[in-house]
Amino acid sequence: MKHHLQWLALSSVATALASNNNNDNTSCSTRPYSTWMADSIISRGQGIAPAELTSSIYLQIGVVQAALLQLLESPLSSTLRCAQHDYRSHVRQGTKSIVGQLLNASEDTQYPLDRLSLGRGLLDEYLDTSTSSSDKQTAKSALDTLHKSIGLQPKNQWGGLWYFTYPYWSYLDGMYSYTAFESLYTNAFNPSGVLNKTNDIIYQLDLLWIHCIDNNTDLLFHGYDASVTASWAQPITGASPMVWGRSMGWYFMALIDWLEENSSITRTTLWNHILVRYLDFAAALLKTADPDSGAWWQVLNYPGREGNYIESSGSAMFTYGLYKGERLGLFDNDVDKYKKAADKAYNYLIDNFVVENQNGTLSWNGTVSVCSLNSSATYDYYVNQPILYDSVHGSAPFVLASLEHEISA
Ligand SMILES: *[C@@H]1O[C@H](CO)[C@@H](O)[C@H](O)[C@H]1NC(C)=O
Ligand SMILES: *[C@@H]1O[C@H](CO)[C@@H](O)[C@H](O)[C@H]1NC(C)=O
Ligand SMILES: *[C@@H]1O[C@H](CO)[C@@H](O)[C@H](O)[C@H]1NC(C)=O
Ligand SMILES: *[C@@H]1O[C@H](CO)[C@@H](O)[C@H](O)[C@H]1NC(C)=O
Ligand SMILES: *[C@@H]1O[C@H](CO)[C@@H](O)[C@H](O)[C@H]1NC(C)=O
Ligand SMILES: *[C@@H]1O[C@H](CO)[C@@H](O)[C@H](O)[C@H]1NC(C)=O
Ligand SMILES: *[C@@H]1O[C@H](CO)[C@@H](O)[C@H](O)[C@H]1NC(C)=O
Ligand SMILES: *[C@@H]1O[C@H](CO)[C@@H](O)[C@H](O)[C@H]1NC(C)=O
Repeated sequence: MKHHLQWLALSSVATALASNNNNDNTSCSTRPYSTWMADSIISRGQGIAPAELTSSIYLQIGVVQAALLQLLESPLSSTLRCAQHDYRSHVRQGTKSIVGQLLNASEDTQYPLDRLSLGRGLLDEYLDTSTSSSDKQTAKSALDTLHKSIGLQPKNQWGGLWYFTYPYWSYLDGMYSYTAFESLYTNAFNPSGVLNKTNDIIYQLDLLWIHCIDNNTDLLFHGYDASVTASWAQPITGASPMVWGRSMGWYFMALIDWLEENSSITRTTLWNHILVRYLDFAAALLKTADPDSGAWWQVLNYPGREGNYIESSGSAMFTYGLYKGERLGLFDNDVDKYKKAADKAYNYLIDNFVVENQNGTLSWNGTVSVCSLNSSATYDYYVNQPILYDSVHGSAPFVLASLEHEISA
């Protein structure tokens, strides 16, 4: 797909001159990857609950909504020029398809923490002045119920939230949804509680950091068992043995999204605490990036081992997180180094995982299916999980990475 990148660059002058009117795509001679992939996700009907629900549908809808809402809020006013679908309407449809599942707090605790990723779409709907009063009421009720469900979520002996129904197991994955929800909800409905809530968020993030830090990669293992009884639990920490790209990706995105949302209060103690974690991980990601491709292995603590491969969801998440740190000015004097790393990884994503279909839609390749700790959690388990085509766990973060790339270009 290299030729498209060049085409995109050559047409950037035309792009800059084109109208900002969202619906005027007549002068849209080429499409940015961000909206092109977003339109393709929508054309596949993704981000909307199917008739049969699985426990992973909450996060699938949530991450598509996060990508679409970030496009809508993009500082790049020309971003939506080539959009072919109504993103806000797709977010609303996604919410409508799942909101009925969310209205009982004790039932909510039976779903993974990922359910909280639906808070973005719900809050956007609640705050939208064109929302009908009954939809507004439903959105508020779902937000309040989700909020209540965090209080009812089972916790380990240190107060660490279980990720799902598995007793005493906490996963990095849940932090993407939890961090954003707590922060958005508190800012919107309980501003005087923000400081307390931020302490709670940092406590949850740090419990995972303390138990899961891998001294070799400086990244985090997938999760830990606070009861230290799982077959895979390391004897002292309870950590699982693999540093899994996608789970680390969720955690990394949680940090950078929080830092952006709070960029107005930079350099306070709490902000700096999260910034330091983010910068440490960013440095570790530069160290663990595969030197040839610039992208990241599925199992980050066994680079190059037989069976391991460069995985597209974790790689897209890290690329997004690095670009965004650059845009927010977090890298100070090292900015060139990080931009170069993000560019190299981004080009690899385009050349290797983006597929242009005959009908003009884009597909997305190379995303590992769900990896659970309800398994042997061994190296062989991770590298033998199926590889999915068109998984939103990869394509939605690619939308976000593309958006950041286009902003910084
Ligand atoms: C313009 O948008 C319409 C739908 O709004 C779509 O059908 C058409 O394919 C788009 N054209 C281009 C050149 O993107
Ligand atoms: C919520 O779900 C729980 C568990 O399924 C049930 O016992 C309870 O009655 C429900 N509450 C409401 C208000 O429906
Ligand atoms: C913050 O937390 C402390 C300790 O839990 C509590 O006493 C205090 O009321 C909380 N403050 C706010 C504004 O919520
Ligand atoms: C990693 O390093 C920390 C701090 O030096 C140490 O407390 C911890 O035991 C180490 N973890 C492992 C698994 O070696
Ligand atoms: C995070 O940002 C929001 C809105 O930008 C702000 O209201 C809140 O106080 C910030 N959080 C902290 C810990 O300062
Ligand atoms: C476009 O082509 C792809 C690949 O053949 C297919 O999966 C998809 O359903 C098509 N989309 C539409 C809207 O026809
Ligand atoms: C997707 O990736 C797999 C593994 O690299 C490859 O075999 C397959 O041809 C790719 N599919 C497409 C449509 O490019
Ligand atoms: C956990 O794994 C066992 C054994 O494979 C399976 O029977 C069970 O359904 C799994 N639990 C969940 C909640 O997926």
